[in-house]
Amino acid sequence: MTTTTPPTALITGGSSGLGLALARALDDAGWIVVTDARDADRLRTALEGTTVHGVPGDIAEANHRADLVDVVSGLGGLDLLVLNSSTLGPLPMRPLAQYEPLEFGEVFRANAGAPGSLMVALTGQLQQRAGMVIGISSDAAVQHYETWGGYGASKAALDHLVLTFGAETGLATYAVDPGDMRTPMQQAAFPDEDISDRPLPEAVVPRLLALVDRRPPSGRYLAAEIAPSTTRLEVAGA
Ligand SMILES: NC(=O)c1ccc[n+]([C@@H]2O[C@H](COP(=O)([O-])OP(=O)(O)OC[C@H]3O[C@@H](n4cnc5c(N)ncnc54)[C@H](OP(=O)(O)O)[C@@H]3O)[C@@H](O)[C@H]2O)c1
Repeated sequence: MTTTTPPTALITGGSSGLGLALARALDDAGWIVVTDARDADRLRTALEGTTVHGVPGDIAEANHRADLVDVVSGLGGLDLLVLNSSTLGPLPMRPLAQYEPLEFGEVFRANAGAPGSLMVALTGQLQQRAGMVIGISSDAAVQHYETWGGYGASKAALDHLVLTFGAETGLATYAVDPGDMRTPMQQAAFPDEDISDRPLPEAVVPRLLALVDRRPPSGRYLAAEIAPSTTRLEVAGA
């Protein structure tokens, strides 16, 4: 009898939105999934009915990142790292002239420095499995919208970190703009708008799974331009 070790994914920010939708899809397909979020109660409730490992904490905290690395080490390696958690920065969205000096650093730490540091700390586990990294980006990383400057610049920095890491390690790395989605983050950015016209994050998941399945060349991708996967990346025996 042969046994297959299921692949392992770490997805940051899995209590809501895209992170939760992806965590559920990979869990359904038999993957071992680890995720985190700051609000422990919301994380536990979101993961009810799944086998996803929830590790409460803030990615901006070094101790929490060390916990995530320990959990992944205990699982024997990492096939997929998805750097998904993110902050919009100070709300309501505002021009750069209305940022407090420390707020620039906080946005960059949450969206680029901390995820970049987690990625580097997981180099060994990723190399063990020829794993891949997906950094969740935004159109704001390449377009210059008023009031989106801190968020957009930090997403551009994340793109650079993820794609440079790929060039340096030979691992497959992707910066993916998921497009607008109907999530709490989108509602927080547009508090007075009806966002029911935006697609649900579940619509983006098959496009991320297609990247994992097909392993195209490393680079920046728009989710809308990736043909969705028709398989669930099912693990044998799951
Ligand atoms: N929604 C859109 O239209 C849109 C468009 C373009 C790009 N994106 C990108 O897509 C990704 C997912 O966004 P979403 O809309 O799905 O967001 P969301 O629904 O607000 O979910 C964000 C998740 O990240 C967690 N999180 C936030 N900060 C964290 C931190 N410091 N440490 C650990 N976990 C943290 C949140 O939980 P806690 O708050 O409890 O920590 C939550 O689970 C983000 O990278 C976002 O920038 C979204």
